[in-house]
Amino acid sequence: MSRLSIFPDQATDTGQTAAPLVVSDDAALIHQELMQRGIGFEQWAAPIDLAGDADEASILRAYADDVAQVKQRHGFITVDAIRMTPDHPDRVSLRSTFLCEHTHAEDEVRFFVEGQGLFSLHLKNEVLVVLCERGDLIHVPAGTRHWFDMGANPGFCALRFFNNAAGWVADFTDDPIADRFPRLE
Ligand SMILES: [Fe+2]
Repeated sequence: MSRLSIFPDQATDTGQTAAPLVVSDDAALIHQELMQRGIGFEQWAAPIDLAGDADEASILRAYADDVAQVKQRHGFITVDAIRMTPDHPDRVSLRSTFLCEHTHAEDEVRFFVEGQGLFSLHLKNEVLVVLCERGDLIHVPAGTRHWFDMGANPGFCALRFFNNAAGWVADFTDDPIADRFPRLE
């Protein structure tokens, strides 16, 4: 089940992460809290069980109608599918890359069609930790500080939309803030 936790971004006097101000798995409340902060969050149907050996082209074909809708709505020009499994050869390096706080020059839009992943959004004086599950469509505006955890045993597939041909390009903030916040267990 999708879940939102909202933390103060500042550590306590003893250097600990402060207790969350909000924890909810109510989809309507998650949508509302995120929308108030300029973050898009919708729950779509993601009814297709992907074959274990499904390649990227077949995943994108399976969700062609959704892909077309998101592209049209936001003017994205490219889309890819990232799929991680517990035995993926690059799982350790990719996990540590995505766990570093970063921003993008373009909006980050992800449609989860399998499994789950943990987005953390650093807005002003808050960190919003969003557990995204299959069917969740999240839209993070350009320039938003954030990081992502796929966990030590990753299991997810997300469609990623881009408006530049280079795909995923990040500016890292070099702030180790992610070290203080919950990871995907
Ligand atoms: Fe990102």
